[in-house]
Amino acid sequence: MDENLKKMISDAGQEHLLCYIDELSAEEKRVFIEQLAAVDWQQIPQLAADYVLKRPEISIPADLTPAQFFPLTPADSATAELYAAADAKGAELLRAGKVCCLTVAGGQGTRLGFDGPKGTYPIGPVTDRSLFAYFAGAIARASEKYGKTVCWYIMTSPINRAATEAFFKEKNYFGLPQESVFFFTQGTMPAFGTDGKLLLSSKGTLALSPDGHGGTLLALRKSGALDKMIADGCEYISYFQVDNPLVPVVSPRFIGLHALENSEMSAIMLSKTNSKEKLGNFCVSNGRTMIIEYSDLPDELAEKRNADGTLAFVAGSPAIHVLSRKFVEKLTSGGTLRLPWHRADKKIACLNENGELFTPSEPNGVKLESFIFDALPLAEKVMILEGDRAEVFAPTKNATGVDSAESCREMLTARNARQLKLAGVDIPYTADGKVDAVIEIDPAKVLDDEDAAALVERTGLKKVEPGERIVL
Ligand code: UTP
Repeated sequence: MDENLKKMISDAGQEHLLCYIDELSAEEKRVFIEQLAAVDWQQIPQLAADYVLKRPEISIPADLTPAQFFPLTPADSATAELYAAADAKGAELLRAGKVCCLTVAGGQGTRLGFDGPKGTYPIGPVTDRSLFAYFAGAIARASEKYGKTVCWYIMTSPINRAATEAFFKEKNYFGLPQESVFFFTQGTMPAFGTDGKLLLSSKGTLALSPDGHGGTLLALRKSGALDKMIADGCEYISYFQVDNPLVPVVSPRFIGLHALENSEMSAIMLSKTNSKEKLGNFCVSNGRTMIIEYSDLPDELAEKRNADGTLAFVAGSPAIHVLSRKFVEKLTSGGTLRLPWHRADKKIACLNENGELFTPSEPNGVKLESFIFDALPLAEKVMILEGDRAEVFAPTKNATGVDSAESCREMLTARNARQLKLAGVDIPYTADGKVDAVIEIDPAKVLDDEDAAALVERTGLKKVEPGERIVL
């Protein structure tokens, strides 16, 4: 092993990682050394000191104010005109092929407890179609509707890349042109034990974890995705998470407003249902937009009210963005980008002191992640648009309960029911106002209300029966 590397590891106080190296085969040793060489050893002691051995202190700026946003429904005629112009601009950009989709799918989905990439999770309320199939269908329909192929960039982690690609192959790319789907892999960070020592997942493997969705920006550059966007003339990136099948994969109004407002990074906001709702809060300090996590917003700010009784810090983030490609180019121009790290205490399977693999039942280590929303303060201009929760946000974080697969399926049915009702179909409801049926609409057929009306017209559907399970 190279003496230089050995010294860097030892200077970083991590020489314990090498204690089994002589037990490895030549090939195992080669792979391990390659892994070790990829670590930035100089920053490890600082990271351990700042994030692991002590809890990073969150400093809330004294001048923090709520961020301004464009409301869901225009309050005056000038805003109504702006929205109409944005709708037209967004559609024009889509027709010109200047918009792509980006799904971040590199997470580990530990809360869902599903074995496999989260995007392969069966979420369709009737057919079990996967999360990826939802996005693929919607992207296919958007491409058809605007007459230009919308390219789809999918970020995986090194851990789930192969399984994700295999799923797409098995599904024949859901009928999308294969060259319009671009997979890229995010970076990783070594995991720490609570004593600041890095963990091994085998005698010749570091315990690595994906570096957070903030890793998207640099990964876009390193993977050649940005180059492809430049070559394709794509200027706007419609960003969403793999666990939200309700998201409009491209929203003409959102994209159009982003462009008309010369925004570098835009965001959808949802009005929080209560002061403690677990959504990041859109705030402004020193003229810069930022997100303060729900757990970090001091109570007196979280509870602060406007004169009309509404929450002052009302804007919560569902992690739906539009980014200008040029902004991503600018941020990553030197081939590096340092976003702040966030600490997560996790259960990390690793070797114990006897060199045996153990799976802890309690958090035993620290993972460091960066977050995409930390790019907001780096943007010269940020545009925030209010979204309708029932139309845009059904996160699948847990297996049951709040933000679960169960609640997501209900919301998909509810949205489909609303679209059908709007098109004149008779929908059954229970006494407590829930849809008394399970309805699944093929996203490749219906992108918006206009498509839903056309579908109803084509099929001649008049009524959904109570208790029916229907696929359209
Ligand atoms: P979450 O924060 O919900 O994390 O990710 P997760 O890993 O999927 O789930 P848990 O916390 O382990 O239960 C939000 C979105 O960001 C992506 C996820 O795939 C999801 O779309 N993500 C997260 C990445 O792409 N990479 C990461 O390193 C982390």
